[in-house]
Amino acid sequence: MRIAVAGGTGVVGRYVVNAATEAGHDVVVLARSRGVDVLTGVGLVEALDGADAVIDASNSGTTLSARKAKAFFETATRNLLDAERRVGVRHHVALSIVGIDDIDASYFAGKLAQERAVASGVVPFTIARAGQFHEFAGQLLSGMGGPVALMPTLLMRPVAAREVGAHLVRVAEGGPVGRAADIVGPRDEVLADVARRQLAFDGSRRRVLQVRLPGAYGRGLASGWLRGGADAVQGWVAFDEWLRSDDHGK
Ligand SMILES: NC(=O)c1ccc[n+]([C@@H]2O[C@H](COP(=O)([O-])OP(=O)(O)OC[C@H]3O[C@@H](n4cnc5c(N)ncnc54)[C@H](OP(=O)(O)O)[C@@H]3O)[C@@H](O)[C@H]2O)c1
Repeated sequence: MRIAVAGGTGVVGRYVVNAATEAGHDVVVLARSRGVDVLTGVGLVEALDGADAVIDASNSGTTLSARKAKAFFETATRNLLDAERRVGVRHHVALSIVGIDDIDASYFAGKLAQERAVASGVVPFTIARAGQFHEFAGQLLSGMGGPVALMPTLLMRPVAAREVGAHLVRVAEGGPVGRAADIVGPRDEVLADVARRQLAFDGSRRRVLQVRLPGAYGRGLASGWLRGGADAVQGWVAFDEWLRSDDHGK
């Protein structure tokens, strides 16, 4: 298959590209650094020429603004689906987040808007939801400076981005089914705890302060909903195992 990976240079996108290449697929990366912009549409139709499936692992960044997140995911999805329709792509795979249904706020408002846009589009689709990545604490830590890092109270079941990448390729290969099984990690974790373990492992003296965010978003993060249900596919790699692996620090 020819598979286009939007966000193929990102944290999970790189693993999607690796897994698809290893499975023998012909892979094209859609990212601004590769001359393709999902927001302006520049380079999209040309890059999608001959593609059978698109896996969307692009991201708006770490914005907490519902307005900005919605603007990114709605525009990116509209442009991707328009270009896919024009060139005859037969399967759009969107990566979303486990357990967000009742948290229509902040960044998750953007992800829910993305899911709605995909589901109401003309390209056959699969929405695949994943738990927070093991890489997530590091993404937040690197986005904030200073000796004390503030981590929102977040109960999660983190999963290795490598395992999510392989899952997305299997989903793309399987053809459109509307909704794939969720994928989460093997253990319940608390974000502030994993951030502390990561800093200790890396020999950093930075401290972590857990803060309960206000409003619907904060309630959702602390609710445990993001851990997913018993029917989720479970990754094998636990956070501490991931910390000791070559994937940490890549
Ligand atoms: N992080 C988590 O724990 C987690 C958990 C579950 C699901 N997810 C979902 O996984 C997806 C990917 O997250 P991530 O953390 O891997 O993202 P990331 O590391 O921030 O990577 C974002 C990717 O999107 C590309 N991108 C951004 N703006 C673009 C644009 N205008 N046009 C084309 N490409 C653009 C970036 O490449 P360029 O900068 O070169 O454009 C990059 O390849 C997101 O949809 C997120 O909601 C994340």
